[in-house]
Amino acid sequence: MITVRNLSYSIDGKVVLEDLNLHVRQGENVSIMGVSGSGKTTLLKVMSGLVRPSGGQVIIDHTDITHLSEEEMDRIRPRMGVVFQYGALFDSLTVYENVAFGLTRRTQLKKQEIDSIVEEKLSLVGLPGTEYLMPSQLSGGMQKRVSLARAIAVNPDILFYDEPTSGLDPIMTTVIGDLIVDMRNKLGVTSVIVSHDLRSIFATSDRIAMLCDGKIIAYGTPEEIKDTRDSRVRQFVEGRPEGPIRAGGGG
Ligand SMILES: Nc1ncnc2c1ncn2[C@@H]1O[C@H](COP(=O)(O)OP(=O)(O)O)[C@@H](O)[C@H]1O
Ligand SMILES: [Mg+2]
Repeated sequence: MITVRNLSYSIDGKVVLEDLNLHVRQGENVSIMGVSGSGKTTLLKVMSGLVRPSGGQVIIDHTDITHLSEEEMDRIRPRMGVVFQYGALFDSLTVYENVAFGLTRRTQLKKQEIDSIVEEKLSLVGLPGTEYLMPSQLSGGMQKRVSLARAIAVNPDILFYDEPTSGLDPIMTTVIGDLIVDMRNKLGVTSVIVSHDLRSIFATSDRIAMLCDGKIIAYGTPEEIKDTRDSRVRQFVEGRPEGPIRAGGGG
């Protein structure tokens, strides 16, 4: 479904991603974990076509998206939904307008059809009847769920999540995790989740990749990752300050 090949990304003379390889199979939930500043958000932006890499390829369903024109990209984008770290809702739009955004802009659907999709997606994320609230009236967890409803409104095949559980309480973390699993089970969606929330990663992923020094240094099932002998993965999973990984990167 998604193949990342020899990917590199540099900014301001700093190498963020270097010769990175990853393959995500259709219908799988794959989490990418790594310390703050390891390049998780950057990788997600490159994989979802929001940012062009410095080198290498991102292949979505046999199409290399790294050299597409904006027009060609616009044809692929509806197949992908992105749930940003802070929800990134439009503050001046209602919940309804936020969820309907892609549908209004990218489809020819009638108002009635859009209404029923918005209603369905809000129910799916556990927020029925919130259409006329403003984002500022919602808790952080509700904003993330509206953001998810917006991402799935266009029926994407692939969902990208940036830190979907950061800043949420443990119960809401489970709710969001269950939703991510539901997207796979009910809608057959392929998900790429970028996170450092280990509990949630191990609960929701079919496979887990570890990003370190610009590369994927380990990739396997939760059991395989738990049993790995790689000292960097062990340090991260066990949360030990001392070890080969230098902690204390940026955001
Ligand atoms: N637009 C940018 N300008 C300068 N540096 C950036 C930019 N985007 C990312 N970086 C740098 O790339 C590195 C990885 O950032 P990021 O992808 O946000 O990591 P993570 O999401 O894992 O915390 C950081 O060192 C960050 O400072
Ligand atoms: Mg990030």
